[in-house]
Amino acid sequence: MSDATTVDYDGLIPNNVGLNDDARVRRALETWYPGYLDWWRTMGPEGFQDALVYLRTAVGVGAEGWARFGYVKMPEYRWGILLAPQSEGRTIPFGAHKGEPAWQEVPGEYRAMLRRLLVIQGDTEPASVEQQRHLGTTAPSQYDLRNLFQVNVEEGRHLWAMVYLLQKYFGRDGREESEELLRRHSGDPDTPRMLGAFNERTPDWLSFFMFTFFTDRDGKMQLHALAQSGFDPLSRTCRFMLTEEAHHMFVGETGIQRIIQRTCEAMSTAGIDDPTDVERIRALGVIDLPTIQKKANLHFSLTLDLFGSEISTNAANAFNAGLKGRYREDRLTDDHRLRDNTYPVLRLKDGTVAEEDVPALSSLNMRLRDDFVADTEAGIARWNRVLERAGVEYRIRLPHVAFNRRIGEFAAVHADTDGRLLDDAAWQSRKAEMLPTADDYRFVQSLMRPEREPGAYAGWIAPPRAGIDNKPGDFEYVKIAA
Ligand SMILES: [Fe+2]
Ligand SMILES: [Fe+2]
Repeated sequence: MSDATTVDYDGLIPNNVGLNDDARVRRALETWYPGYLDWWRTMGPEGFQDALVYLRTAVGVGAEGWARFGYVKMPEYRWGILLAPQSEGRTIPFGAHKGEPAWQEVPGEYRAMLRRLLVIQGDTEPASVEQQRHLGTTAPSQYDLRNLFQVNVEEGRHLWAMVYLLQKYFGRDGREESEELLRRHSGDPDTPRMLGAFNERTPDWLSFFMFTFFTDRDGKMQLHALAQSGFDPLSRTCRFMLTEEAHHMFVGETGIQRIIQRTCEAMSTAGIDDPTDVERIRALGVIDLPTIQKKANLHFSLTLDLFGSEISTNAANAFNAGLKGRYREDRLTDDHRLRDNTYPVLRLKDGTVAEEDVPALSSLNMRLRDDFVADTEAGIARWNRVLERAGVEYRIRLPHVAFNRRIGEFAAVHADTDGRLLDDAAWQSRKAEMLPTADDYRFVQSLMRPEREPGAYAGWIAPPRAGIDNKPGDFEYVKIAA
């Protein structure tokens, strides 16, 4: 057996799970590999399959130096299976089995539930690669192009992570589910991905940054909840995935930050004080702040739907079973069983939005969503500091959670971004001020022209503060004519 902190790089599949001594699982994964590569080539980044991309590859799972940077052709990326080190004597941290030794094998009574959790998580990973596959052709710089591909290969690795757990612990069912993960495709009318936001289009780079800021953050929250799992291999898998996930949110947060910064600079140079003077600002070739706000409204509301219904028996069952915990369960100080606790939930009652105390077990989705909102607010505050420093009188803010929902308490009603309920006519007449219109998309699309020169940036986005891996500003992150 290889030690969990060193990674075996000799075989086809880099891993720290002792794949060499596990012929059954190794064969299953090697059998799955060609289909995966085929998926990557047909559904992954369009073009650029032969380009040399300066990517980081995970080479260890320790806190220090877990990644190595170097040029690689994406189809030759070393997608590995990496689990965080096992902690000796770990016990199930919550639910009905709290305090019992953590499971190293699948607990029979929860097999179906666990499989479902893995499949749902696994389905989101390749979905986002599919959603982003056309973006390479319009990247605003080499730096951004490289970041897109970094996110893409890591989402590919996250798929590997879930497929490993399925193949290792679920036998034939796991093999079938692994095939299905390659068969479903984002936006496919017959075999769509499992969750709504992962079937939406990502048509431009503003959408990409919003997606990584909001929707990858849902991923972070789900991974945190699964990292608490009493099923130890899942916990260890998710703990390592979180180290990669942080970069995805960095890409989104700083992407929007740089767009805002560029818009402020252009407004200041042109002597425009009024951020709502959309036409004049657009004429400068930058994205106006009201459009950024509308895109934030859209992506926030789509992402909230991913948390599921506020009141959920499935979530209660998964917690009771010890499979899926709360955000930072290990830092919470209650009894971790939640039999007698309540939690405040926003509900629709007699035509108004009101808070109601609900049994804490039933409202775990709501709680995770609240943690998500708090995490998001911190990022928005950093966007607003750019506006503050530039002296621009505009602030980005999150819409009310009842706004534009398809799932849960507010799915059946219309609400504005302040949470005031609207009738159909009012919704129709006000929609265009709250959500991006066809015209907004056309404008953003008109800016999407590729900038391929090392060190050059499209006119609608500011350069980053620092390069990747401390590289200089004119570093060639992607060698296109390889
Ligand atoms: Fe992921
Ligand atoms: Fe991600």
